[in-house]
Amino acid sequence: MTGTAKRARWRCPSNIALVKYWGKRNFQKPMNPSLSFVLGNSFTETSVELVKGSEHKVEFFFDGLANNFGERIEKYLDHISARLHWIDKFNFRIHSRNSFPHSAGIASSASSFGALALCLTEIDFALSGKEMNGSDFLQKASDLARMGSGSACRSVYPGFSIWGSTQLFESCGDEFAIPLTEGIHPFFSGLRDAILLVDSGAKEVSSSAGHRLMDEHLYHRSRIAQAHENINRLYLALLTGDRAKFIDVVENEALSLHAMMMTSNPSFILLKPNSLEIISRIRRFRERSKIPVCFTIDAGPNIHLLYFQEHELDVKAFVERELLVFCENGKWIDDQIGAGPERLKD
Ligand code: DP6
Repeated sequence: MTGTAKRARWRCPSNIALVKYWGKRNFQKPMNPSLSFVLGNSFTETSVELVKGSEHKVEFFFDGLANNFGERIEKYLDHISARLHWIDKFNFRIHSRNSFPHSAGIASSASSFGALALCLTEIDFALSGKEMNGSDFLQKASDLARMGSGSACRSVYPGFSIWGSTQLFESCGDEFAIPLTEGIHPFFSGLRDAILLVDSGAKEVSSSAGHRLMDEHLYHRSRIAQAHENINRLYLALLTGDRAKFIDVVENEALSLHAMMMTSNPSFILLKPNSLEIISRIRRFRERSKIPVCFTIDAGPNIHLLYFQEHELDVKAFVERELLVFCENGKWIDDQIGAGPERLKD
């Protein structure tokens, strides 16, 4: 190992789960399998530079300004230094930016840890002289991303991916996500996501605290069984192009996630009155127009309205006419299923 500075730069998208990861078994291992797709327009760009020194001290800049997220990254590097031994021999200069505003209420930990893990994996492969083009590259990046934030492990692939042990794929375990590349019905290649920003205020309960409340949750076992059943049903819907089944599973998962929060001890409610108003309007619109739209929700009050490319004009008109009035300052993000991470030139 020489002290030569190395550098890597990646763009990594955020993702939205359709079957939700909620609850952990061990350190950063999921209680149940989850399935998500990456977004096209909501991403983080990160560059990592190795600087001579030791003790993996981190200088972190967000949008060009020094930022205390560096402390969380130092802890993260501590955790992963058992896997990447060279980490202890350098200090780090990291620059990061998001394509979406911080206040948008989009979970940025998935795209941030995804981008950081891709940079670290590139450096790791370069230092050990390994080729970056095999599937082991993205698997390693996915594993490292998971150690920072569970959902981040699903951000390193294009399109749909799945994480956590399931009977669907033997190759799918708790360490890294795998991409769902084959057999997905063409309907879903044009999946669109209108992210309706209801409230950008700080969350009452963090995701980490929410995950912990699943340990002793009264519905712990039934939630695990439900997630397995839903992932089987959703995968089948993705293969066969069964949009009615897709809608059924996706809404059931979103509402179950929030039901888990409402029935945990202590309980908490992240949905706002406007979230509920939007949900009921989406359902009424679907009934009335027969256009296959549905919603999903993260651990927050914002609503992701999912729809298909061919209905873009009708759905956007509906959003503008009926939903924006329930969004904070009328804000929303026009997004769609994305092509995955991208290695950037310096
Ligand atoms: C509701 O990945 O943010 O978005 O592993 O503690 O960082 P940590 O949790 P995080 O949890 C995401 C939960 C979710 C559902 C999902 O993305 O599957």
